[in-house]
Amino acid sequence: KIITWSPTMAEKGGYRHFMLKEIYEQPRAVADTIAGRLKDDEGDVYLEDLGLEAEELGRIRRIFIIACGTSWHAGLVGKFYIEKLARVPVEVDIASEFRYRDPIIGEGDLAVLISQSGETADTLAALREARAKGGKAVSICNVVDSSIARESDGVIYTHAGPEIGVASTKAFTTQLVALYLLALRLGRVRGTLSAEDCRRQVAELLSLPRKIETALELDSAIEEIARTFVSARDFLYLGRGNQYPIALEGALKLKEISYIHAEGYPAGEMKHGPIALIDENLPVVVLAPRNETYEKVVSNMEEVRARGGRVIAVATRADESLRRSCDALVELPETTDDLMPVLTSIPMQLIAYHVAVLKGTDVDQPRNLAKSVTVE
Ligand code: G6P
Repeated sequence: KIITWSPTMAEKGGYRHFMLKEIYEQPRAVADTIAGRLKDDEGDVYLEDLGLEAEELGRIRRIFIIACGTSWHAGLVGKFYIEKLARVPVEVDIASEFRYRDPIIGEGDLAVLISQSGETADTLAALREARAKGGKAVSICNVVDSSIARESDGVIYTHAGPEIGVASTKAFTTQLVALYLLALRLGRVRGTLSAEDCRRQVAELLSLPRKIETALELDSAIEEIARTFVSARDFLYLGRGNQYPIALEGALKLKEISYIHAEGYPAGEMKHGPIALIDENLPVVVLAPRNETYEKVVSNMEEVRARGGRVIAVATRADESLRRSCDALVELPETTDDLMPVLTSIPMQLIAYHVAVLKGTDVDQPRNLAKSVTVE
């Protein structure tokens, strides 16, 4: 067989874009973020550079998760993890908002900074603000020895590997995994999570890479969906609970690389405004995995359809009523409710990617955007 790769194609591992390569690297990236961090015998998690002793973790009163962009969306999911597993109240802030509002943070509080690059100016400034006021700070970074990692009391590295595409993909899903590991650790130290429960969650975590692979097999079906909806001028993304941040992330991905206006909204809020936008020209992406609010989300889909809107459903074990209420269906494998955001992220990335490719935009280097924003 003759090899016809050019040097740049080789860099992209044969993929057309870095973004697509990085989307496909997620099973490996997620596995690497988990690797070496599980203590199965003790039913616990080991975070090698966390920098805080068990006793200090036990004393934390409040947690502030602070980040920008996609990393902020990961933080919104992280709140669900930490509050559920460790029962510590969590606030999630956008770094550029946090740093300018004289935040009430001090001793006994922990700031968790999330930054792929570890160099985002606003996030770095928020870190300094939190520490200056007496709070402890742990960062979740992908770039080893970056400024944010260095200035924090401790760091959890995501082992995603270099991310070249401006639109973040594997960095995001590994941030979710890192946050989950942190929540498990906090839950164990604080006694809100038993060793047995921790082991159960860990087993599910270990099955994630394989499930991400299954989700990636939907690529060509998603490309078809993208073809159907590529001419839309706006998109709406809906989700509830820990899927709401994924709706925000899906909308952001589409905006960033296809330049189509998109908005993410909590599905339950649709009736308070966005419903006025719905007509046959507005595709609505609805995140509807089986969970506590499944029926409610399906009824949101029915409301969209009753107004002529077109629904792209992202679901698990779709039943008849869901199938009747959507124009296109992406069906994912099942996992726990906690880990489902990792899987629903995959179609969000692929929808944006294929729409952008069909529109012919510069997927890896979208206009006006930078991979890391080191200015204010
Ligand atoms: C830029 C990038 C985004 C990223 C954000 C935060 O805007 O284009 O993809 O989410 O910065 O970056 P960070 O490196 O701090 O995660």
